[in-house]
Amino acid sequence: MSAIYLLRKISTKTPSRFHRSLFFSTFSKESKPDSSRTNSIRHLSSQRFVPSSIYRFPQSKILPNRKFSTSVETNLNDKSFERIHVQSGAILERIHKNEEEETVSKVNVGSEKVVREESEAEKEAWRILENAVVRYCGSPVGTVAANDPGDKMPLNYDQVFIRDFVPSALAFLLKGEGDIVRNFLLHTLQLQSWEKTVDCYSPGQGLMPASFKVRTVALDENTTEEVLDPDFGESAIGRVAPVDSGLWWIILLRAYGKITGDFSLQERIDVQTGIKLIMNLCLADGFDMFPTLLVTDGSCMIDRRMGIHGHPLEIQSLFYSALRCSREMLSVNDSSKNLVRAINNRLSALSFHIREYYWVDIKKINEIYRYKTEEYSTDATNKFNIYPEQIPPWLMDWIPEQGGYLLGNLQPAHMDFRFFTLGNFWSIVSSLATPKQNEAILNLIEAKWDDIIGNMPLKICYPALEYDDWRIITGSDPKNTPWSYHNSGSWPTLLWQFTLACMKMGRPELAEKALAVAEKRLLADRWPEYYDTRSGKFIGKQSRLYQTWTVAGFLTSKLLLANPEMASLLFWEEDYELLDICACGLRKSDRKKCSRVAAKTQILVR
Ligand code: GLC
Repeated sequence: MSAIYLLRKISTKTPSRFHRSLFFSTFSKESKPDSSRTNSIRHLSSQRFVPSSIYRFPQSKILPNRKFSTSVETNLNDKSFERIHVQSGAILERIHKNEEEETVSKVNVGSEKVVREESEAEKEAWRILENAVVRYCGSPVGTVAANDPGDKMPLNYDQVFIRDFVPSALAFLLKGEGDIVRNFLLHTLQLQSWEKTVDCYSPGQGLMPASFKVRTVALDENTTEEVLDPDFGESAIGRVAPVDSGLWWIILLRAYGKITGDFSLQERIDVQTGIKLIMNLCLADGFDMFPTLLVTDGSCMIDRRMGIHGHPLEIQSLFYSALRCSREMLSVNDSSKNLVRAINNRLSALSFHIREYYWVDIKKINEIYRYKTEEYSTDATNKFNIYPEQIPPWLMDWIPEQGGYLLGNLQPAHMDFRFFTLGNFWSIVSSLATPKQNEAILNLIEAKWDDIIGNMPLKICYPALEYDDWRIITGSDPKNTPWSYHNSGSWPTLLWQFTLACMKMGRPELAEKALAVAEKRLLADRWPEYYDTRSGKFIGKQSRLYQTWTVAGFLTSKLLLANPEMASLLFWEEDYELLDICACGLRKSDRKKCSRVAAKTQILVR
């Protein structure tokens, strides 16, 4: 059966274009819409949300999850489950549901509760995470980016970043606390439809902010009110576009439903509209020739100039995941069927493009090394006119016999051969890459352990831009000097994504090994944002301490490893139906051949 038919019908009402007013009518106690459109969202305490306890999901609802999703829900087998728990060194025992214990973390696995001793680092991490929680009108709505008491210039690190909150949200969800995540999803949704302008220009309606802050403003001498103040890039350093925010929002929305079993949130009309606005923005026609999303530099976790404009892998893998999430969550009706069709077509075209053209391993590099150039024809081998001289000398030595990875970026006559960690991990998690490619990426990590993990997991990319490359590509950025920050610094927050990728591929021991490396230092080093040098030896030059997503990434990794069944709700298996969808309309008998038919077998067996 085609996955499209499995999508749920959940609403017959046509969603309104402005879910801001819907928000007020469905979510606030008082249904009076706020007509004032200022720079921030005003929220008087009298319009406070329904107390968060109302949204608390009953524990009994956590499992089992609904089975209507289009994704294959893999449960790791019992054997690997036992192995994870024994190898982690933590003391585990299975106890029956009713038994309670104060000083241990509890996670639900099937009908049993697994109780695990928390390490000192974990206990401290929870304390820091709880401390980082931001409240709005009394309810928790997110976590600040960093809480470094020694930081005299927090810049925007005192804000709630959408991307930074994802590991915090997962840690809370895996602990059974859903309110903060639900509140976050609804408040940021409210910000989405805000009228935003950057120097009198209005970015697209579905855009989600990079971050937001809760401000208290005086109304008069005696009254204050709390307002949510979003940053869509108009204050951000470099005025970078937060392209990944909306994609993360969709990914988190699905995760919330999967883990809590509370699917009512994603079924709400305003939430459905939010998904559609993001998808419409991503799927809008432009001049682009490729199914990949065309973005400016610094539009994701790497939010400074780093030569990742064009079609960076990180954005493509998040885009692919968000498309898969939307396909699962959107209700199919007359107003959404065209969008759902567009999502299916894009998923299929995007995975083909990435699998076929972004993949590099020793064999592919050898092919590129012998490429002919200036081929003018529809069946050119060197479709993007890549000059073999572009293969960087480091790569020839570095690429292992076993393993491979997805390129950082691909454009006409340009391949960025750097290894970008988040994009590669997220391609595994979402099945953007083929099963064999996924395996090969982890093989590469294992073979290049010292380069990618070293003294602190994980390098954000490899290798660093140095000398003229650094000068020309970063614009001589003193923060992104070689082997620092975004230019091949080591970011412990990436641990949770590595853990998820390893668990999906049945190799949790790799994640455990990396986690052990991190655990040795993070507590003593006071949870730095990033580390510097080739092997991640030093705390980063300008690194914040008590960085929330470092703390949350660590906790989420721990919780995922301790709870493989929950982890399996967060990744996707190969969807073979997607491979069959092709929108080009060419038939076998046509004179002009569909380029994908020729390539497909290659992709599947690779
Ligand atoms: C830096 C990082 C960005 C992160 C932000 C808040 O700007 O580059 O990815 O979201 O800090 O932690």
